[in-house]
Amino acid sequence: MDSLPLRSGKVRFSREQAMEQQKVYYFDNNATTRVAPEVVDAMVPFLREHWGNPSSAYSFGARVHGHVEAARQRVAALVNADPKEVTFTSCGTEANNTAIQSAILTSGKRHVVTTKVEHSANINFGQHLQKLGHDVTYLPVESDGSLDLHVLEQSIRPDTAVVSVMYANNETGVVFPIEEVAAICRSKGVLCHTDAVQVPGKLPIDAKALGVDFLSLSAHKLHAPKGVGMLYVKRRTRFEPYVIGGHQERGRRGGTESVANIVAFGRAAELAMASLQDENTRVRALRDRLENWVLSNIPNTVRNGAREPRLPNTSNIAFDFVEAEAVLMLLDQVGICASSGSACTTGSLDPSHVLSAMGVVPMRARGSVRFSLGIYNHDEDVDYLLQHLPRIIQKLRDISPLNPEHPDNDRYDIDGARRKHEEDMAAVKE
Ligand SMILES: Cc1ncc(COP(=O)(O)O)c(C=O)c1O
Repeated sequence: MDSLPLRSGKVRFSREQAMEQQKVYYFDNNATTRVAPEVVDAMVPFLREHWGNPSSAYSFGARVHGHVEAARQRVAALVNADPKEVTFTSCGTEANNTAIQSAILTSGKRHVVTTKVEHSANINFGQHLQKLGHDVTYLPVESDGSLDLHVLEQSIRPDTAVVSVMYANNETGVVFPIEEVAAICRSKGVLCHTDAVQVPGKLPIDAKALGVDFLSLSAHKLHAPKGVGMLYVKRRTRFEPYVIGGHQERGRRGGTESVANIVAFGRAAELAMASLQDENTRVRALRDRLENWVLSNIPNTVRNGAREPRLPNTSNIAFDFVEAEAVLMLLDQVGICASSGSACTTGSLDPSHVLSAMGVVPMRARGSVRFSLGIYNHDEDVDYLLQHLPRIIQKLRDISPLNPEHPDNDRYDIDGARRKHEEDMAAVKE
């Protein structure tokens, strides 16, 4: 929208523009991250000058090829892989879909094991596979979001093609024991994929040590632009492409390479390795300060998910008797960005599938907010958030029909919900 010139000659901004001018206090780094200035600097020459096609025979294009390969080396180093094990994709979703489909096609088997708390990139792909006649097992999780490996082991069948378990949950930050999952898969002769999209820059990743066959990343979660991801495919793993076309990516993924994005991904991978220490100390301390303050100063709040093992940047907090959407709206009015779960499910009125799988009562799940911090957050951001949050929660509770005195309060039968979840889990383990 155009700005409105005033008679005085000054410019008055529309509300949208005024919001744009306002500083943004960003606590939604699990949804996407700011593109690092160093990353912008690295990619711009590939938009302005070196815009040739890396597959071209003439040197103007072919020169670019070397930069794609340099980026591949950098991304491979981020996950301790060989560059040949890295295939660039358009996003994390494509990497997940590719891994699972490849496992089905190469094994000739029709059963897939995944979990109830995966990103929609897996959950909805699983539903798509079911429509095509495949069988998908969605593993349950404990009330703290953790996985029972015995249940996982029992779910593997002779016709299982692949087990796909996320490394860390995007909503709660809970980290799964992927090394153990991969060992179980190996012992059963089943392929293992992990969606590690939330992990780089937050925890070290060693694909070799994990022992997985496939691992997915997405560049926009590590301060690179949207529109590029990668799939690690362990050497000698049989592979079938998902995007079929030209011979790019050694025949593993058709489509002209998104060179500037790939170069950006490479630079971001270097920066992510360099910022690991910062994320694990300073960002973790910021996250803990935020979480501890809220839990001890705002009544009727509780953390969703295990305290540890957890990503150092993520805190998912339930604010009883309020709707998260209303909290987010009021936070937005003062320039604070947070979310009520995955950005991919925003707009859905259903409670988060992750929290539901953990047995969190729907009313509590609907009042849950995810704060995900990053390297650009500082003490003053947390101060600002904590200055506004208690007032916002109080304001909403004052007008909430969900408050403790309300007759519908039995919808907060937390103990009942926990008992029901424990009974369900016990039945699964029998
Ligand atoms: C755990 C996880 N997996 C996959 C994705 C999808 O990544 P992309 O947006 O690159 O498709 C996301 C994005 O939020 C995610 O958090």
